[in-house]
Amino acid sequence: MRTYLVTGGAGFIGSNYIHYMFGKYDNEIRIINVDALTYAGNPENLQEVEGRENYTFVRADICDKEAITRIFAENDIDRVVHFAAESHVDRSIKSPEVFVRTNVLGTAVMLNCAREAWERPDGTYPEGKRFLHVSTDEVYGSLEEDGGYFYETTPYAPHSPYSASKASSDMLVRAYMDTYHFPANITNCSNNYGPYQFPEKLIPLIINNALQGKKLPVYGDGKNVRDWLYVEDHAKAIDMVQEKGRLFETYNIGGHNEKQNIEIIHIIIETLQEMLAADDPRRALVSPDLITYVEDRKGHDRRYAIAPDKIRDEIGWEPETMFREGIRRTIGWYFAHEDWMKNVTSGEYQKYYDDMYHVK
Ligand code: NAD
Ligand code: DAU
Repeated sequence: MRTYLVTGGAGFIGSNYIHYMFGKYDNEIRIINVDALTYAGNPENLQEVEGRENYTFVRADICDKEAITRIFAENDIDRVVHFAAESHVDRSIKSPEVFVRTNVLGTAVMLNCAREAWERPDGTYPEGKRFLHVSTDEVYGSLEEDGGYFYETTPYAPHSPYSASKASSDMLVRAYMDTYHFPANITNCSNNYGPYQFPEKLIPLIINNALQGKKLPVYGDGKNVRDWLYVEDHAKAIDMVQEKGRLFETYNIGGHNEKQNIEIIHIIIETLQEMLAADDPRRALVSPDLITYVEDRKGHDRRYAIAPDKIRDEIGWEPETMFREGIRRTIGWYFAHEDWMKNVTSGEYQKYYDDMYHVK
Protein backbone atom coordinates (compact mmCIF):
# COMPACT_ATOMS: atom_id res chain seq x y z
CA MET A 1 0.00 0.00 0.00
CA ARG A 2 1.45 3.34 -1.05
CA THR A 3 1.82 5.98 1.68
CA TYR A 4 1.29 9.68 0.97
CA LEU A 5 2.48 12.46 3.21
CA VAL A 6 0.28 15.47 2.53
CA THR A 7 1.22 18.82 4.07
CA GLY A 8 -1.46 21.48 4.59
CA GLY A 9 -4.23 18.94 4.07
CA ALA A 10 -6.63 20.80 6.37
CA GLY A 11 -6.66 23.83 4.06
CA PHE A 12 -8.74 24.47 0.97
CA ILE A 13 -6.92 22.61 -1.80
CA GLY A 14 -5.29 20.05 0.49
CA SER A 15 -8.62 18.88 1.91
CA ASN A 16 -10.16 18.69 -1.57
CA TYR A 17 -7.14 16.65 -2.68
CA ILE A 18 -7.52 14.22 0.24
CA HIS A 19 -11.23 13.74 -0.57
CA TYR A 20 -10.39 13.23 -4.23
CA MET A 21 -7.68 10.67 -3.45
CA PHE A 22 -9.86 8.60 -1.10
CA GLY A 23 -12.69 8.84 -3.63
CA LYS A 24 -10.39 7.45 -6.30
CA TYR A 25 -8.16 4.98 -4.43
CA ASP A 26 -10.26 4.21 -1.31
CA ASN A 27 -8.31 1.64 0.74
CA GLU A 28 -5.48 1.19 -1.74
CA ILE A 29 -3.52 4.11 -0.29
CA ARG A 30 -2.66 5.53 3.10
CA ILE A 31 -2.58 9.28 3.75
CA ILE A 32 -0.77 11.06 6.57
CA ASN A 33 -1.82 14.70 6.78
CA VAL A 34 0.54 17.06 8.56
CA ASP A 35 -0.93 20.47 9.25
CA ALA A 36 -0.25 23.16 11.86
CA LEU A 37 -3.93 24.22 11.84
CA THR A 38 -3.32 27.93 11.35
CA TYR A 39 -6.37 30.17 10.84
CA ALA A 40 -6.63 28.58 7.35
CA GLY A 41 -6.56 24.96 8.49
CA ASN A 42 -9.88 23.51 9.54
CA PRO A 43 -10.38 19.96 10.85
CA GLU A 44 -14.07 20.23 9.86
CA ASN A 45 -12.91 19.98 6.23
CA LEU A 46 -11.86 16.39 6.90
CA GLN A 47 -14.59 15.12 9.21
CA GLU A 48 -15.71 12.54 6.65
CA VAL A 49 -12.31 10.85 6.49
CA GLU A 50 -11.34 11.05 10.18
CA GLY A 51 -12.57 7.55 11.01
CA ARG A 52 -10.63 5.83 8.22
CA GLU A 53 -7.92 3.39 9.25
CA ASN A 54 -5.82 4.50 6.30
CA TYR A 55 -5.88 8.20 7.34
CA THR A 56 -3.74 9.81 10.05
CA PHE A 57 -3.68 13.44 11.10
CA VAL A 58 -0.54 14.91 12.69
CA ARG A 59 -0.68 18.42 14.02
CA ALA A 60 2.78 19.83 13.35
CA ASP A 61 4.52 22.83 11.87
CA ILE A 62 6.47 22.11 8.67
CA CYS A 63 9.27 24.30 10.05
CA ASP A 64 9.66 21.88 12.98
CA LYS A 65 12.49 19.70 11.75
CA GLU A 66 12.22 17.21 14.61
CA ALA A 67 8.52 16.62 14.07
CA ILE A 68 8.91 16.15 10.32
CA THR A 69 11.96 13.89 10.76
CA ARG A 70 9.93 11.74 13.16
CA ILE A 71 7.11 11.33 10.63
CA PHE A 72 9.59 10.11 8.01
CA ALA A 73 11.31 7.82 10.54
CA GLU A 74 8.08 6.22 11.70
CA ASN A 75 6.51 5.77 8.28
CA ASP A 76 7.71 4.51 4.93
CA ILE A 77 6.62 7.52 2.91
CA ASP A 78 6.39 7.00 -0.85
CA ARG A 79 4.90 10.29 -1.98
CA VAL A 80 4.97 13.79 -0.57
CA VAL A 81 2.40 16.32 -1.76
CA HIS A 82 3.41 19.66 -0.31
CA PHE A 83 0.54 22.15 -0.05
CA ALA A 84 1.26 23.77 3.34
CA ALA A 85 1.83 27.48 2.91
CA GLU A 86 0.60 30.90 3.82
CA SER A 87 -1.57 31.54 0.79
CA HIS A 88 -3.31 34.93 0.90
CA VAL A 89 -1.71 37.82 -0.99
CA ASP A 90 -3.36 40.57 1.12
CA ARG A 91 -2.06 39.03 4.34
CA SER A 92 1.43 38.84 2.82
CA ILE A 93 1.32 42.58 2.16
CA LYS A 94 0.55 43.24 5.83
CA SER A 95 2.79 40.55 7.40
CA PRO A 96 5.45 39.30 4.97
CA GLU A 97 7.71 37.54 7.47
CA VAL A 98 5.41 34.64 8.27
CA PHE A 99 5.24 33.95 4.52
CA VAL A 100 9.02 33.68 4.33
CA ARG A 101 9.11 31.43 7.37
CA THR A 102 6.41 28.97 6.30
CA ASN A 103 6.81 29.03 2.55
CA VAL A 104 10.60 29.16 2.29
CA LEU A 105 11.95 27.66 5.52
CA GLY A 106 9.05 25.18 5.74
CA THR A 107 9.74 23.95 2.20
CA ALA A 108 13.47 23.65 2.98
CA VAL A 109 12.66 21.50 6.02
CA MET A 110 10.29 19.29 4.00
CA LEU A 111 12.87 18.82 1.23
CA ASN A 112 15.67 18.06 3.62
CA CYS A 113 13.72 15.58 5.72
CA ALA A 114 12.51 13.77 2.60
CA ARG A 115 16.03 13.66 1.21
CA GLU A 116 17.50 12.35 4.45
CA ALA A 117 14.85 9.64 4.60
CA TRP A 118 15.05 8.62 0.95
CA GLU A 119 18.60 9.12 -0.35
CA ARG A 120 20.79 6.01 -0.53
CA PRO A 121 24.53 6.19 0.30
CA ASP A 122 25.33 6.21 -3.43
CA GLY A 123 23.12 9.25 -3.99
CA THR A 124 20.29 7.38 -5.73
CA TYR A 125 16.67 7.12 -4.60
CA PRO A 126 14.41 4.06 -4.47
CA GLU A 127 11.99 3.73 -7.39
CA GLY A 128 8.62 5.33 -6.69
CA LYS A 129 9.69 8.02 -4.22
CA ARG A 130 8.33 11.36 -5.38
CA PHE A 131 7.94 14.83 -3.93
CA LEU A 132 5.39 17.16 -5.52
CA HIS A 133 5.68 20.84 -4.67
CA VAL A 134 2.40 22.67 -5.17
CA SER A 135 3.06 26.17 -6.43
CA THR A 136 1.30 29.02 -8.13
CA ASP A 137 1.15 30.91 -11.42
CA GLU A 138 1.84 34.11 -9.45
CA VAL A 139 5.58 33.35 -9.53
CA TYR A 140 5.56 34.40 -13.20
CA GLY A 141 4.41 37.93 -12.40
CA SER A 142 1.79 39.78 -14.40
CA LEU A 143 0.71 39.65 -18.07
CA GLU A 144 -0.46 42.45 -20.32
CA GLU A 145 -4.22 42.78 -20.65
CA ASP A 146 -4.18 42.10 -24.36
CA GLY A 147 -2.13 38.94 -24.63
CA GLY A 148 0.39 36.33 -23.67
CA TYR A 149 0.38 33.27 -21.45
CA PHE A 150 2.52 31.80 -18.71
CA TYR A 151 4.57 28.84 -19.95
CA GLU A 152 6.86 26.63 -17.86
CA THR A 153 9.75 28.54 -19.44
CA THR A 154 8.43 32.01 -18.53
CA PRO A 155 11.01 33.77 -16.33
CA TYR A 156 10.04 34.25 -12.70
CA ALA A 157 8.98 37.80 -11.79
CA PRO A 158 7.02 37.71 -8.52
CA HIS A 159 5.60 40.97 -7.16
CA SER A 160 3.97 40.30 -3.81
CA PRO A 161 5.67 38.93 -0.69
CA TYR A 162 3.44 35.86 -1.15
CA SER A 163 4.54 35.18 -4.72
CA ALA A 164 8.16 36.01 -3.90
CA SER A 165 8.11 33.44 -1.09
CA LYS A 166 6.52 30.83 -3.37
CA ALA A 167 9.08 31.61 -6.10
CA SER A 168 11.84 31.13 -3.53
CA SER A 169 10.40 27.79 -2.49
CA ASP A 170 10.24 26.70 -6.16
CA MET A 171 13.91 27.65 -6.52
CA LEU A 172 14.79 25.49 -3.55
CA VAL A 173 13.00 22.53 -5.12
CA ARG A 174 14.86 23.15 -8.38
CA ALA A 175 18.14 23.33 -6.45
CA TYR A 176 17.42 19.98 -4.79
CA MET A 177 16.64 18.39 -8.14
CA ASP A 178 19.83 19.80 -9.70
CA THR A 179 22.16 19.24 -6.76
CA TYR A 180 20.94 15.97 -5.26
CA HIS A 181 18.97 14.54 -8.17
CA PHE A 182 16.08 14.70 -5.71
CA PRO A 183 12.95 13.09 -7.26
CA ALA A 184 10.52 15.97 -7.45
CA ASN A 185 8.05 17.86 -9.59
CA ILE A 186 6.73 21.39 -9.36
CA THR A 187 3.22 22.34 -10.41
CA ASN A 188 2.25 25.97 -10.96
CA CYS A 189 -1.49 26.38 -10.87
CA SER A 190 -3.89 29.25 -11.49
CA ASN A 191 -6.67 30.48 -9.15
CA ASN A 192 -8.75 27.70 -7.62
CA TYR A 193 -12.35 27.87 -6.44
CA GLY A 194 -14.74 25.34 -4.92
CA PRO A 195 -15.84 23.81 -1.60
CA TYR A 196 -13.97 24.54 1.65
CA GLN A 197 -12.35 27.77 0.42
CA PHE A 198 -11.76 30.24 3.24
CA PRO A 199 -13.78 33.46 2.74
CA GLU A 200 -10.77 35.75 2.65
CA LYS A 201 -10.48 34.81 -1.06
CA LEU A 202 -12.61 36.54 -3.70
CA ILE A 203 -15.22 33.92 -4.59
CA PRO A 204 -16.30 32.69 -1.12
CA LEU A 205 -16.06 36.24 0.24
CA ILE A 206 -18.47 37.51 -2.42
CA ILE A 207 -20.86 34.57 -1.91
CA ASN A 208 -20.88 35.06 1.86
CA ASN A 209 -21.29 38.85 1.73
CA ALA A 210 -23.97 38.78 -0.97
CA LEU A 211 -26.11 36.34 1.02
CA GLN A 212 -26.03 38.76 3.95
CA GLY A 213 -26.66 41.89 1.87
CA LYS A 214 -23.17 43.18 2.71
CA LYS A 215 -21.00 45.29 0.39
CA LEU A 216 -19.07 43.41 -2.30
CA PRO A 217 -15.57 44.94 -2.30
CA VAL A 218 -13.92 45.24 -5.72
CA TYR A 219 -10.27 46.28 -5.76
CA GLY A 220 -9.29 49.05 -8.19
CA ASP A 221 -11.26 49.08 -11.44
CA GLY A 222 -12.32 45.41 -11.13
CA LYS A 223 -10.70 44.58 -14.47
CA ASN A 224 -7.84 42.44 -13.16
CA VAL A 225 -7.98 39.03 -14.80
CA ARG A 226 -7.55 35.64 -13.14
CA ASP A 227 -7.69 32.18 -14.76
CA TRP A 228 -10.13 30.17 -12.62
CA LEU A 229 -9.94 26.41 -12.13
CA TYR A 230 -12.36 24.18 -10.20
CA VAL A 231 -10.41 22.71 -7.30
CA GLU A 232 -11.26 19.07 -8.07
CA ASP A 233 -9.65 19.50 -11.49
CA HIS A 234 -6.51 20.68 -9.71
CA ALA A 235 -6.56 17.65 -7.38
CA LYS A 236 -6.84 15.37 -10.40
CA ALA A 237 -3.95 17.14 -12.14
CA ILE A 238 -1.69 16.68 -9.10
CA ASP A 239 -2.46 12.98 -8.99
CA MET A 240 -1.83 12.64 -12.74
CA VAL A 241 1.51 14.44 -12.48
CA GLN A 242 2.60 12.02 -9.75
CA GLU A 243 1.42 9.04 -11.78
CA LYS A 244 2.48 10.02 -15.28
CA GLY A 245 4.69 13.11 -15.10
CA ARG A 246 8.37 13.01 -15.92
CA LEU A 247 10.47 13.52 -12.79
CA PHE A 248 12.29 16.86 -12.43
CA GLU A 249 9.74 18.62 -14.66
CA THR A 250 7.51 21.59 -13.96
CA TYR A 251 3.88 21.47 -15.12
CA ASN A 252 1.59 24.49 -15.40
CA ILE A 253 -2.05 23.82 -14.50
CA GLY A 254 -4.81 26.17 -15.59
CA GLY A 255 -8.41 26.33 -16.62
CA HIS A 256 -8.23 28.43 -19.81
CA ASN A 257 -10.94 30.35 -18.04
CA GLU A 258 -9.86 33.96 -17.85
CA LYS A 259 -12.30 36.39 -16.30
CA GLN A 260 -12.18 39.91 -14.95
CA ASN A 261 -12.99 40.15 -11.24
CA ILE A 262 -16.07 42.24 -11.95
CA GLU A 263 -17.38 39.54 -14.33
CA ILE A 264 -16.90 36.93 -11.60
CA ILE A 265 -18.90 39.05 -9.18
CA HIS A 266 -21.77 39.50 -11.66
CA ILE A 267 -21.83 35.75 -12.38
CA ILE A 268 -22.02 35.00 -8.65
CA ILE A 269 -24.89 37.46 -8.19
CA GLU A 270 -26.82 36.02 -11.17
CA THR A 271 -26.22 32.44 -10.03
CA LEU A 272 -27.31 33.18 -6.48
CA GLN A 273 -30.49 34.80 -7.81
CA GLU A 274 -31.18 31.73 -9.97
CA MET A 275 -30.49 29.24 -7.19
CA LEU A 276 -32.25 30.89 -4.25
CA ALA A 277 -35.90 29.92 -3.92
CA ALA A 278 -38.42 32.71 -4.52
CA ASP A 279 -39.52 32.69 -0.87
CA ASP A 280 -35.97 32.62 0.53
CA PRO A 281 -35.49 35.92 2.41
CA ARG A 282 -31.87 36.11 1.23
CA ARG A 283 -33.04 36.52 -2.36
CA ALA A 284 -34.08 40.12 -1.77
CA LEU A 285 -30.66 40.92 -0.31
CA VAL A 286 -28.59 39.72 -3.29
CA SER A 287 -28.17 42.61 -5.70
CA PRO A 288 -25.59 44.25 -7.99
CA ASP A 289 -26.18 47.41 -5.92
CA LEU A 290 -23.94 45.85 -3.27
CA ILE A 291 -20.89 46.18 -5.56
CA THR A 292 -18.48 48.69 -4.01
CA TYR A 293 -15.21 49.79 -5.55
CA VAL A 294 -12.50 50.05 -2.90
CA GLU A 295 -8.81 50.97 -2.77
CA ASP A 296 -6.68 48.77 -5.01
CA ARG A 297 -4.36 46.05 -3.68
CA LYS A 298 -0.75 47.28 -3.55
CA GLY A 299 1.29 45.90 -6.48
CA HIS A 300 -1.89 44.29 -7.85
CA ASP A 301 -0.99 41.93 -10.73
CA ARG A 302 -3.12 42.78 -13.75
CA ARG A 303 -3.58 39.47 -15.49
CA TYR A 304 -2.72 35.81 -15.04
CA ALA A 305 -3.26 33.20 -17.73
CA ILE A 306 -1.78 29.73 -17.88
CA ALA A 307 -0.90 27.82 -21.03
CA PRO A 308 -1.59 24.24 -19.92
CA ASP A 309 -0.23 22.76 -23.17
CA LYS A 310 2.54 20.68 -21.60
CA ILE A 311 0.36 18.87 -19.06
CA ARG A 312 -2.25 18.23 -21.76
CA ASP A 313 0.22 16.94 -24.36
CA GLU A 314 2.42 14.85 -22.03
CA ILE A 315 -0.03 13.66 -19.42
CA GLY A 316 -3.45 14.01 -20.99
CA TRP A 317 -4.88 16.30 -18.29
CA GLU A 318 -7.45 18.91 -19.25
CA PRO A 319 -9.83 20.95 -17.11
CA GLU A 320 -13.23 19.26 -17.01
CA THR A 321 -15.47 21.64 -15.10
CA MET A 322 -16.91 24.58 -17.00
CA PHE A 323 -17.04 27.76 -14.93
CA ARG A 324 -20.85 28.10 -14.84
CA GLU A 325 -21.14 24.51 -13.66
CA GLY A 326 -18.29 24.88 -11.15
CA ILE A 327 -19.73 28.03 -9.65
CA ARG A 328 -23.17 26.38 -9.28
CA ARG A 329 -21.55 23.42 -7.51
CA THR A 330 -19.57 25.79 -5.30
CA ILE A 331 -22.61 27.87 -4.34
CA GLY A 332 -24.59 24.66 -3.77
CA TRP A 333 -21.87 23.48 -1.41
CA TYR A 334 -21.94 26.76 0.56
CA PHE A 335 -25.76 26.54 0.77
CA ALA A 336 -25.45 23.05 2.22
CA HIS A 337 -22.70 24.09 4.66
CA GLU A 338 -24.01 27.24 6.30
CA ASP A 339 -22.62 26.11 9.66
CA TRP A 340 -19.17 25.69 8.17
CA MET A 341 -19.29 29.31 6.99
CA LYS A 342 -20.64 30.52 10.35
CA ASN A 343 -17.87 28.71 12.20
CA VAL A 344 -15.04 30.07 10.07
CA THR A 345 -16.35 33.63 10.07
CA SER A 346 -16.84 33.89 13.83
CA GLY A 347 -14.08 35.25 16.05
CA GLU A 348 -10.76 36.10 14.41
CA TYR A 349 -12.18 36.38 10.88
CA GLN A 350 -14.35 39.36 11.79
CA LYS A 351 -11.34 41.20 13.17
CA TYR A 352 -9.36 40.44 9.99
CA TYR A 353 -12.28 41.55 7.81
CA ASP A 354 -12.92 44.83 9.63
CA ASP A 355 -9.24 45.72 9.55
CA MET A 356 -8.74 44.71 5.91
CA TYR A 357 -11.85 46.46 4.58
CA HIS A 358 -11.72 49.43 6.99
CA VAL A 359 -15.10 48.66 8.52
CA LYS A 360 -15.58 51.08 11.40
P1 NAD B 1 -4.90 27.47 2.49
O1 NAD B 1 -4.41 28.74 3.07
O2 NAD B 1 -6.36 27.23 2.36
O3 NAD B 1 -4.31 26.24 3.34
C1 NAD B 1 -3.00 26.20 3.80
C2 NAD B 1 -2.88 25.05 4.80
O4 NAD B 1 -1.52 24.99 5.24
C3 NAD B 1 -3.75 25.24 6.05
O5 NAD B 1 -4.38 24.04 6.39
C4 NAD B 1 -2.75 25.65 7.11
O6 NAD B 1 -3.12 25.27 8.43
C5 NAD B 1 -1.50 24.90 6.65
N1 NAD B 1 -0.27 25.54 7.14
C6 NAD B 1 0.07 26.85 7.07
N2 NAD B 1 1.26 27.05 7.65
C7 NAD B 1 1.69 25.83 8.08
C8 NAD B 1 2.86 25.39 8.73
N3 NAD B 1 3.83 26.24 9.09
N4 NAD B 1 2.98 24.07 9.00
C9 NAD B 1 2.01 23.19 8.65
N5 NAD B 1 0.88 23.56 8.05
C10 NAD B 1 0.72 24.87 7.75
O7 NAD B 1 -4.16 27.33 1.09
P2 NAD B 1 -4.71 26.74 -0.28
O8 NAD B 1 -5.44 27.79 -1.00
O9 NAD B 1 -5.33 25.43 -0.03
O10 NAD B 1 -3.31 26.54 -1.05
C11 NAD B 1 -2.56 25.34 -0.88
C12 NAD B 1 -1.29 25.44 -1.70
O11 NAD B 1 -1.61 25.62 -3.07
C13 NAD B 1 -0.38 26.59 -1.30
O12 NAD B 1 0.94 26.15 -1.38
C14 NAD B 1 -0.66 27.64 -2.36
O13 NAD B 1 0.46 28.45 -2.56
C15 NAD B 1 -0.96 26.79 -3.57
N6 NAD B 1 -1.85 27.36 -4.58
C16 NAD B 1 -3.06 27.88 -4.21
C17 NAD B 1 -3.93 28.36 -5.20
C18 NAD B 1 -5.29 28.92 -4.85
O14 NAD B 1 -5.97 29.43 -5.74
N7 NAD B 1 -5.75 28.84 -3.61
C19 NAD B 1 -3.55 28.30 -6.55
C20 NAD B 1 -2.29 27.77 -6.87
C21 NAD B 1 -1.46 27.29 -5.88
O1 DAU C 1 -3.16 32.56 -9.00
C1 DAU C 1 -3.06 31.64 -7.97
C2 DAU C 1 -3.26 32.34 -6.65
O2 DAU C 1 -4.64 32.66 -6.55
C3 DAU C 1 -2.83 31.50 -5.45
O3 DAU C 1 -1.46 31.27 -5.52
C4 DAU C 1 -3.17 32.22 -4.13
O4 DAU C 1 -2.86 31.38 -3.03
C5 DAU C 1 -4.64 32.53 -4.13
O5 DAU C 1 -4.97 33.27 -2.97
C6 DAU C 1 -5.03 33.32 -5.38
O6 DAU C 1 -4.45 34.65 -5.34
P1 DAU C 1 -5.29 35.95 -5.82
O7 DAU C 1 -4.70 37.12 -5.16
O8 DAU C 1 -5.43 35.97 -7.29
O9 DAU C 1 -6.74 35.56 -5.18
P2 DAU C 1 -7.80 36.43 -4.37
O10 DAU C 1 -9.02 35.57 -4.23
O11 DAU C 1 -7.22 37.03 -3.15
O12 DAU C 1 -8.14 37.60 -5.38
C7 DAU C 1 -8.61 37.33 -6.69
C8 DAU C 1 -8.76 38.68 -7.40
O13 DAU C 1 -9.84 39.40 -6.80
C9 DAU C 1 -7.54 39.58 -7.27
O14 DAU C 1 -7.38 40.31 -8.48
C10 DAU C 1 -7.90 40.53 -6.14
C11 DAU C 1 -9.40 40.66 -6.27
N1 DAU C 1 -10.15 40.89 -5.01
C12 DAU C 1 -9.92 40.04 -3.98
C13 DAU C 1 -10.60 40.19 -2.78
C14 DAU C 1 -10.34 39.27 -1.61
C15 DAU C 1 -11.10 41.89 -4.92
O15 DAU C 1 -11.32 42.64 -5.88
N2 DAU C 1 -11.77 42.04 -3.75
C16 DAU C 1 -11.55 41.24 -2.66
O16 DAU C 1 -12.19 41.46 -1.60
